[in-house]
Amino acid sequence: MVENRFSKKVCVVTGGAGEIGVATALRLASEGSDIALIDLKDMKDAIQRITMIGVRCIGYNCNVADYGEVEETVKAIQKDFTTIDMLFNNAGIQGAFSQIHTYPVKDFHQVISINLIGAFHVLRAVSAVMVGQKSGVIVNTASMAGVGGPVNMAAYGASKFALVGLTQTAAKDLAPYNIRVNAISPGYMGPGFMWDRQVDLQAAANSQYYDKDRSVVAKQMVGEIPMRRYGSIDEIPGTVAYLMSEDSSFTTGENIKISGGI
Ligand SMILES: NC(=O)c1ccc[n+]([C@@H]2O[C@H](COP(=O)([O-])OP(=O)(O)OC[C@H]3O[C@@H](n4cnc5c(N)ncnc54)[C@H](O)[C@@H]3O)[C@@H](O)[C@H]2O)c1
Repeated sequence: MVENRFSKKVCVVTGGAGEIGVATALRLASEGSDIALIDLKDMKDAIQRITMIGVRCIGYNCNVADYGEVEETVKAIQKDFTTIDMLFNNAGIQGAFSQIHTYPVKDFHQVISINLIGAFHVLRAVSAVMVGQKSGVIVNTASMAGVGGPVNMAAYGASKFALVGLTQTAAKDLAPYNIRVNAISPGYMGPGFMWDRQVDLQAAANSQYYDKDRSVVAKQMVGEIPMRRYGSIDEIPGTVAYLMSEDSSFTTGENIKISGGI
């Protein structure tokens, strides 16, 4: 591993109590970055693990779907850390699994309000700071669900497709200010909550694409992946670190696919 690529840098990580957020924050911290975590959930464990590496880490409870809260939080981060050099814009939820004609309307609104509008809120507030600094790097967490329309996941797929579009526009708008913006698109990652939930809910969704038996569904899903296995959460942080680093200094507006399937 290349060490200290991020020493004296500050990274904001949303979804900072979640699996991908914590794994990525740990990786960036191990290369020297101070970390500002944002999440709705308690971040005590994550803060303890990150601080043990020897960097500063503070958690901020904030609902990314509420712009007022995001603005206040970004102000607090600026006060506590002075600069914001990197943003891992990663908070998200999967939502319901249902065919489009039965998809719960309220759930659709909630998924869009967190995965897309929430991501926009954070992107807007943090990029305003970065524009003032005339430097910064942003990585948005999209999904393979935003590359091919996933069955039974109308809201999630739509939110991630839109986030890829937002990434491309942000990359163009922010390039004059020396700010790069890319996305990552993890595919089926497991084992873990997201994988288990997805297998269970696809089995229950009563569609022609998946079996009703969850063990068969798990095999069907793995069969959609070129590498014929699901990915591990640990296979994500290295890609994010690459996109955050000078190793990708001319890369912007890209959506890096991790794994495949969906
Ligand atoms: N795990 C996967 O298989 C997978 C695959 C592709 C994409 N993703 C994406 O990766 C990102 C992280 O997912 P994860 O697997 O770590 O899941 P996770 O559930 O472990 O983490 C998501 C975190 O986001 C937080 N969050 C949700 N709504 C929020 C809100 N309104 N405000 C602030 N925080 C909020 C949650 O509290 C949680 O800690 C998500 O955007 C997800 O869509 C995950």
